Amino acid sequence: MKMPFSSFLTFTLLSMQLSIVSGGKILVFPLDGSHWVNMKVIIERLHARGHEITVLRPSDSWYIKEESFLYTSLTLPCHGGFEENFDTYLSQQLEIRLQMKPESFWSKIWTQMQIRWVVLDQFTQFHKKVGDIITHMFENEDLMQSLHAAKYDMVLTDPGIGGGAMLARRLHLPLVFNARWTIHGEAHFLIAPSPLSYIPFTGTELTDKMSFPQRLKNVLSFFIGKLTLSYITDPSYKPIVRRFFGPDVDYSTFFLDADIWLMRNDFVFEFPRPTLPNVVYMGGFQCKPSTSLPADLVEFVQSSGDHGIVIMTLGTLVSNLPQDISEEIAAAFAQLPQKVIWRYIGPRPNNLGNNTLLVKWLPQNDLLGHPKTRVFITHGGTNGVQEAIYHGVPVVGLPLFFDQPDNLSRVKAKGAGVIVDIAMLNRHIFKEALMTVIYNSTYGDNMRTLSKLHRDQPMKPLDLAVFWIEYVIRHKGARHLQTHSYKMSWFVYSSVDVFTALLAAVLLVTFIWISVVRFLLRKIFTGGKIKH
Ligand SMILES: *[C@@H]1O[C@H](CO)[C@@H](O)[C@H](O)[C@H]1NC(C)=O
Ligand SMILES: *[C@@H]1O[C@H](CO)[C@@H](O)[C@H](O)[C@H]1NC(C)=O
Ligand SMILES: *[C@@H]1O[C@H](CO)[C@@H](O)[C@H](O)[C@H]1NC(C)=O
Repeated sequence: MKMPFSSFLTFTLLSMQLSIVSGGKILVFPLDGSHWVNMKVIIERLHARGHEITVLRPSDSWYIKEESFLYTSLTLPCHGGFEENFDTYLSQQLEIRLQMKPESFWSKIWTQMQIRWVVLDQFTQFHKKVGDIITHMFENEDLMQSLHAAKYDMVLTDPGIGGGAMLARRLHLPLVFNARWTIHGEAHFLIAPSPLSYIPFTGTELTDKMSFPQRLKNVLSFFIGKLTLSYITDPSYKPIVRRFFGPDVDYSTFFLDADIWLMRNDFVFEFPRPTLPNVVYMGGFQCKPSTSLPADLVEFVQSSGDHGIVIMTLGTLVSNLPQDISEEIAAAFAQLPQKVIWRYIGPRPNNLGNNTLLVKWLPQNDLLGHPKTRVFITHGGTNGVQEAIYHGVPVVGLPLFFDQPDNLSRVKAKGAGVIVDIAMLNRHIFKEALMTVIYNSTYGDNMRTLSKLHRDQPMKPLDLAVFWIEYVIRHKGARHLQTHSYKMSWFVYSSVDVFTALLAAVLLVTFIWISVVRFLLRKIFTGGKIKH
């Protein structure tokens, strides 16, 4: 049968539509806050492709709205306490961070220990809340029944909390992670070989080229980090696992079980490292071309002339800097010939220059994509660094907490920005840093190179992520991509048994050889004696 081209086209279009209509059913267990912002980018695309999405959220959820055309929400009748606690968390951390002046080695160590202590306490509280939510969820028979009955195709979750992975295990569903962190730390350290000789551990701000003392620091940080993390998470998750899954179940296997890891990493600015077949890199999936600026900003940006503009934002979490620091920043801005747009909430600094515009919110992506933008001042948060790379704008980094120092130290290692220590910040240091990045073209050039590299990929990162999610739906998982290493004891994994056997064989052979030689020598010796 011959099909005319036009009907062939209709047929193809129809079947494409059909395949869109018969989308999958995806259960999402998200992490609230800025992680949700990124999760939503993926959900939007999945929705557009016709998948049916259900999102689990606690009743006092912060960023995750109950009503949305993108998904159906299932509200758990319990409190995550995410929002009310987060502000206090951050201001506590910021306060200590600001005291961390690198004057003496010991005072630095001391403040770092203080931060560790505060973070330890805060994260313990946080995971305890998550543990409560999971317990509520599993205890609620009706809910679990209805989740079973709904016959989802897979669970999509952020392994920064333990709930999604446990839920997938409970419902026997394929599992896809939108990951960077697991509750055990940076995700690669859990799943892939990670030699500490060239892979900097989280929070060390080291690069892949380490001197002996740096490698020493790296190894020590690794062990301290591991201990700290199990101290933080074990008390919350272990009892739940014991209660709902049995006494001998190791909860790290819940994570190792994931079918696909969608990782928010970008090797354009991170250091190359070993990885695995079920890890898919989607760094920069949230980036998109800029659109035109709102009318009120257009005029301000245009008025900057050839000098261009400077943008500053410390993200959605830190709205308030101490007044003295804000004043120093304002004073540095006032001395620049550029125009400045500063996302700032709080009392207006007294010495604000007339070149500086304070805004409560700024269209970060559209400003970064604007040709007049010369430098981006960022804390190194979720989208900032990645969007700066996407648009090729060099940065001045003011890292505050979490993995922000690491993110920015990578940008610095690539020569695409400078870092200012916020505890040491004054108007001179800050202005100097800005002038360097604006007028020394190497920073901009390096960033534009990173941008070109980032954009030169066979498939857009978001399309790649969606492809693999649909792959898991089509094939009911991706077990064939998992390595067997997860099921081995450390003993077998590192071939200790094989090496021991080989060593024993070598020793045996040596022993036999020595005995034979000794026997022969004695024979010759005694034989000679007789002859004599
Ligand atoms: C802005 O301030 C500078 C220096 O203080 C001054 O020279 C300039 O005239 C001011 N511009 C406007 C538009 O007020
Ligand atoms: C650091 O950068 C990565 C990759 O862009 C991002 O996933 C992560 O959230 C960033 N860290 C923070 C604290 O935002
Ligand atoms: C620009 O910065 C680079 C990297 O820090 C440095 O090597 C170079 O000397 C600087 N150029 C000028 C003109 O200052």
